[in-house]
Amino acid sequence: PPIYFSGIQPTGTPHIGNYLGFIRPWVQLQQTLPKDTRMILSVVDQHAISTGPKNREQFRCDIRRMISSLLACGVDPKRCLLFRQSDLPEIAQLTWVLSSLQTIAKLNRLPQFKEKASKYSNNAVPLGLLIYPVLQAADVFIFRATHVPVGEDQSQHMNILSDLALSFNINYGQEYFPQPKQVTTEIYGRIKSLRDPTKKMSKSDPTAKSRIELSDTKDEILEKCMKGLTDNLGPITYDPVNRPGVANLTDLLGAISSVKPSDVEGWKTTQLKEKLAEEFERMVRPIRERLNEIEQGDEVDRILKENGELAREEAVRNMTEIKKIVGFI
Ligand code: TYM
Repeated sequence: PPIYFSGIQPTGTPHIGNYLGFIRPWVQLQQTLPKDTRMILSVVDQHAISTGPKNREQFRCDIRRMISSLLACGVDPKRCLLFRQSDLPEIAQLTWVLSSLQTIAKLNRLPQFKEKASKYSNNAVPLGLLIYPVLQAADVFIFRATHVPVGEDQSQHMNILSDLALSFNINYGQEYFPQPKQVTTEIYGRIKSLRDPTKKMSKSDPTAKSRIELSDTKDEILEKCMKGLTDNLGPITYDPVNRPGVANLTDLLGAISSVKPSDVEGWKTTQLKEKLAEEFERMVRPIRERLNEIEQGDEVDRILKENGELAREEAVRNMTEIKKIVGFI
């Protein structure tokens, strides 16, 4: 039977790229997949320190905030196993086993690694950044997952996962890890920055106005939408090549409402921005309110404890099999 697995970095509050590209589709899968299809969701705190150490207090808050946000968005801990990556030391152990099946050269060539590495001076690039995709493979493989719902930006990593599954199975002479299938929705897989339609919306973008977060207030949403990049070429026409900013906002509106590009032709850009803010507020408001409630309670601690134990049992069981295959036992 299929096993769906995904992970999300605890970057604090998710932005609408995370939401539309991953969280909302995941919540839909919870409702549509047959009940016997397992779903596992990991908050990948180990991945989050691959760029270097974090402020401890802030990091703790960000982890809790991410888990509360997932719950607020409708992630159902009864339907899916929601846990924290660092509670399962077997994942790091499997990372080590996989690390010798992957070459430095291949990891070095990944565009996402190159981009992140370019922010450091040559001699200061952390090893964690390079082996990031191997840790991601271990996340998926420890549960022998078959399907991985993610945004389009994860495609490069998914290729590494395919390589590694194949390489492990060939080298150890058995079909142990299934080939994981990427599951990405076409329209929502790549939500772009509000300030720059050539970039994806991202938590690491220094411009906070480039993204809307799920805890943003009505006023913040309006302000960010009004500052969204457009042009001064007059009333709206849908022309992604010559008017990428306008097309981006139009696409975003289409993604969260029933307003199609043809409906907004001839509008003023301020009209489009106001409508976009209104629709975002409609989408975000119930989540923001739920998030506030959840943060008052102690649900998060309870879920982490119970699910952490369940997930751990399974990880230990599979790691024992892997140890036998590798020859440790
Ligand atoms: P992360 O934490 O950056 O993002 C979480 C999810 O949100 C999606 N996403 C987007 N989708 C559409 N448009 C955007 N602008 C956008 N920004 C982010 C991501 O594709 C992702 O699905 N490496 C992963 C976390 C991870 C993982 C895993 C995922 C670790 N291990 C195992 C799947 C399986 C990451 O950094 O996602």
